[in-house]
Amino acid sequence: MKSKKIAPSLLSADFANLERDIKMLEAAGADILHFDVMDGQFVPNISIGIPVLRAVKRVSTIPIDVHLMVETPGLIVDAFIDAGANYVTIHAEAERHLHKVIHQIKAKGAKAGVALNPHTPLSAIEEVMQDLDLILIMSVNPGLGGQSFIPNTIDKIKRLKTILKERNLTHIEIEVDGGIKLNNIAAVSDAGANIFVSGSGILKAENPAGMIAKMRKVLNSGG
Ligand code: DX5
Ligand code: ZN
Repeated sequence: MKSKKIAPSLLSADFANLERDIKMLEAAGADILHFDVMDGQFVPNISIGIPVLRAVKRVSTIPIDVHLMVETPGLIVDAFIDAGANYVTIHAEAERHLHKVIHQIKAKGAKAGVALNPHTPLSAIEEVMQDLDLILIMSVNPGLGGQSFIPNTIDKIKRLKTILKERNLTHIEIEVDGGIKLNNIAAVSDAGANIFVSGSGILKAENPAGMIAKMRKVLNSGG
């Protein structure tokens, strides 16, 4: 079985103390740093981009998972990989040439992911699934940290897991992003996810390192 990975979202970090927060998250056992890029078009917000990724890369040692909430991501994926992205995830809703851009990401040496908004059916990636390293199921509408987990996500993850099994594609990672907290991470894990993004659930907790440890315990005790 694939290892379960905790991916704190830097969107909820203290940007004036990013290095401090990154070191704390790594020391607490985070597996991946989730890096949310918003362009003010695909989603209403604007967040962080290439210069910040370069800086994060200088002070971090674990893989960085770049979640591009931007229109026509194919225009910008190369620059994010040059800046240090290990995984690059683009939205199915934002790219007309998904197949081309997935292969562009892989050719440049990064892992390729496609994200699906809550309303986007799994069938949107039916013809490219076999080419992916990761599928990101959004459990909130993208654009903002701190929103509530959308319950239908659990069923969507289960259906995806079944499709991946049927197609012998169980090496593909299933990442879930939005509203993941200590009280629902077990359900997300049981449904079949293996990468758990959590922004406010970890970084707005009273003790973020302790929260990672608690989440890990839940993941270790589950199936
Ligand atoms: C939402 C972002 C998420 C966000 C998650 O648009 O893609 O990664 O940081 O934050 P929480 O865990 O607070 O919902
Ligand atoms: Zn994200």
